[in-house]
Amino acid sequence: MKLDIAVLPGDGIGPEVTAEAVKVLKAIGLVFEHTFNFKYALIGAAAIDSINNPLPEDTISLCKTTDAVLFGAIGDTAYDMDPDAKIRPEQGLLGIRKALGLHTNIRPVIAYDDLLTKSSLKVKQIKGTNVLIYRELTGGVYFGERQLSEDGNTASDVCEYHRFEIERIAHAAFKAAQSRKHKLTLVDKANVLETSRLWRRVIKELATQYPDVALNFMYVDHAAVELIKNPRQFDVVLTENMFGDILSEEASVIVGSIGLLASASLGDTYAMFEPIHGAYPNAKNKGIANPIASILSAAMLLDHFNLEDEAALVREAVDKSLKLHITTPDLNTKYDNITTSKVGDFIEDFINNPEETNLNFTNIHLGQSTII
Ligand code: IPM
Ligand code: MN
Repeated sequence: MKLDIAVLPGDGIGPEVTAEAVKVLKAIGLVFEHTFNFKYALIGAAAIDSINNPLPEDTISLCKTTDAVLFGAIGDTAYDMDPDAKIRPEQGLLGIRKALGLHTNIRPVIAYDDLLTKSSLKVKQIKGTNVLIYRELTGGVYFGERQLSEDGNTASDVCEYHRFEIERIAHAAFKAAQSRKHKLTLVDKANVLETSRLWRRVIKELATQYPDVALNFMYVDHAAVELIKNPRQFDVVLTENMFGDILSEEASVIVGSIGLLASASLGDTYAMFEPIHGAYPNAKNKGIANPIASILSAAMLLDHFNLEDEAALVREAVDKSLKLHITTPDLNTKYDNITTSKVGDFIEDFINNPEETNLNFTNIHLGQSTII
C-alpha cells in the first residue's frame, strides 16, 4: 500500500514523540513492503513563531492532499500565561479539526497488566479496564460563539449542538459497541443543559436501530467518579466535546501515564491521529517524553487503512517494551537511562525482528546481558 502521511509535529514534546511514531511507521513500511511518504507542516506555536498563524493555509492543504495526518502536540507556556493573547497555538489544533471535519474522536483506555501498579488507583479496581471513549470533536462549547464585553467584565462561550452532529458520532459509537461488549453509555448533564437533553433524545431514538446494544445514561459529574471507581463497568462511552476532553484525561490515571493514551480523529473524508496528551513544554528536548501515545496513534492509523497485522505488530512491540521496562521515566522504576528515542529504537528493533529483540536490544542499548 502507498500512503502519503502529513506529519504535524507541533510544539513542546510533539516533535520528539512524533519522530518515534514516524520511525515505527517506517519500520512497518519496510517489513510489510508499504510505501509510506511523510510530508511535514507547521502548526501551533511553531507556526506562530514562523508566520504568525497557528494554522497556515499550506498546512490545511497538505492535510487535504494526503491520506492521513499524524499530529504531535500543541501549546506553549508563554500563551498559557497570557489570557489576552489573541493568537493562540490551540487555534491551530481546533482549526485543523474543524477544517478537516474531524467530528469523531476515539480514545481507547486500556489498563495494561504490566502497568497496573503504576496507577495511583488500586490494582483490583482497574485490572481488565477496556473503555472506548467517543468524544465529539467539532461542536459544543469549543466552537460556539465567544464574547467578551467591552468593559472586560463579562464573557460567554455558547454551547450549541445540532441533531446531525449527534447522529453521526452516535452511529459510530453504537457500531463500535456492537463489535465489543454491546454496551453504550451516554455521558451528559441532561439535568441541567438543553444540549444534553437533545443528545439524550437523539440517542434514544437511534437506539431502536441497535437493539443488541444496552444503552445507559450517566451524568458527567457521576461519570467522573464511576470512571475511576469502577472503570470495568464501561464499554463504549459517548459524550460531547468538553466532557470527553476532561474524562479522557482523567482516564489516564487508570492507565498509569497520560503518555500512553492514543486517539483517532475521524471525519467523513479525512483522518488524523493524535496522542491525547499536550505539549508538556517542561519536558521538551530532555528525552523524557513518553512516545507510546504517539506510537499507538500510528497503530490506529494503520487500523484505519485495515492494515491489521501491521497494527497488531506495533501493539505487540509496545506491550513488549512495557513488559521489559523499556519505558520513559514517567513509568520506569527499573532503568534510568531510557530516553524517548530508545523506546522508539526498541519498538523499531522488535518490528524488524520480533524473535531476537529482547536480547539484542538489552545488550546493545542498555548494557545488560539479559533482563527477562
Ligand atoms: C486534547 C487537548 C486539546 C483539546 C487542546 C490542546 C485544545 O486537550 O486534544 O485533548 O482540548 O481538545
Ligand atoms: Mn485534553
